[in-house]
Amino acid sequence: MKTILLTGGCGFIGSNFVRMALARFPDCRVVNLDKLTYAGNPTNLAGLEAEPRYRFVHGDICDQALVDGLFSEEGFDAVVHFAAESHVDRSIEGPGEFIRTNITGTFTLLEATRRAWLAATKDQSPIANHRFVHVSTDEVYGSLGDTGHFTEETPYDPRSPYSASKASSDHLARAYQHTYGLPVLVTNCSNNYGPYQFPEKLIPLIINNAYTGKELPVYGDGKNVRDWLFVEDHCEALLTVLEKGTPGETYNIGGNNERQNIEIVHTVCDLLDQRCGTLPGGQDRRSLIIFVKDRPGHDRRYAIDAAKIRDELGWKPTVTFEEGIRRTIDWYLANEEWMASVVDGSYREYYNRMYTQR
Ligand code: NAD
Ligand code: TYD
Repeated sequence: MKTILLTGGCGFIGSNFVRMALARFPDCRVVNLDKLTYAGNPTNLAGLEAEPRYRFVHGDICDQALVDGLFSEEGFDAVVHFAAESHVDRSIEGPGEFIRTNITGTFTLLEATRRAWLAATKDQSPIANHRFVHVSTDEVYGSLGDTGHFTEETPYDPRSPYSASKASSDHLARAYQHTYGLPVLVTNCSNNYGPYQFPEKLIPLIINNAYTGKELPVYGDGKNVRDWLFVEDHCEALLTVLEKGTPGETYNIGGNNERQNIEIVHTVCDLLDQRCGTLPGGQDRRSLIIFVKDRPGHDRRYAIDAAKIRDELGWKPTVTFEEGIRRTIDWYLANEEWMASVVDGSYREYYNRMYTQR
């Protein structure tokens, strides 16, 4: 039985990954260390309480004693590190937590891993088959013009406190591989969407507002481009990297699916009109769109070249955007209670701060 330390498993991508990993590897146990910030929701993993191959630990990745203790207790074979502050707008409003969790938290985990795994061998060499998968973002590469793609060789050029903190953690992870031989693999993925995404991010925010008849805030001219990937495809890519990736390597993961923000918003509006009928009064949901003040330093375009993971590890996305966005909308419509539980008082405060008089 192999044991995986998974950090941030109560968040959006982590919770999808926990379910998929337990199903994929019947001989593996997952220990989920999560601080339960506003973005971490234990109900994302409802139903797993009685699963003997799953353990939840409520705690902070910056807590060295806690993390060291977990390594001694559990003897982890692998780490899959998701835990992070993940929203660009929040990083602009208050970068401190991003520096703490994304940089210091990653450092703390790397230190615990180094002590546990390298000390276990007489000559301090890496233990075969151990893996530390550091989950990162394409935003570390900066912003593209109208053409071109990010490859694994693209120089780093982070431009928000979020992407700068992730870039810093990527550098630390690679430095531990280079210096100590820790078996680190780094993944840089494009924008994800799908079930369990917190409604501060574009797609679930627009679904929630459009469903409930609220204004749909589009930043700037709405022509910024993101490369959207269905979350299960990202998790499949991470499982592939965990199983078949080469330590020391970086893998870019993307959907080959570039869309302008305004196209995304139109698609969500049209699908909701089809599924739920137009709004009371007969207007369609596109009438709710408002263009609001742009995000400071807003990156114009991201696009991933995912040839390396396709050619070397055989992964490619399997869910088209048309299918993925339908499945996502269906999930939010079927899980109104989930949405109602996360748009609580603190969310409303956040929303008012960010969007009123924007
Ligand atoms: P999320 O914000 O939905 O979830 C983050 C999780 O980490 C939450 O459960 C939260 O409680 C936990 N967490 C935060 N601080 C913690 C701490 N100090 N200690 C322990 N747990 C803590 O994030 P997500 O969208 O699921 O992203 C997961 C990872 O994937 C992040 O590292 C992010 O940078 C990366 N990523 C995300 C996307 C995307 O589109 N969402 C794309 C590429 C990469
Ligand atoms: P987001 O989901 O925050 O992801 P990221 O900034 O990490 O790419 O935003 C996706 C795009 O949508 C980004 O260009 C900003 C834009 N956006 C809006 O236009 N309105 C919104 O209310 C939000 C949250 C994002």
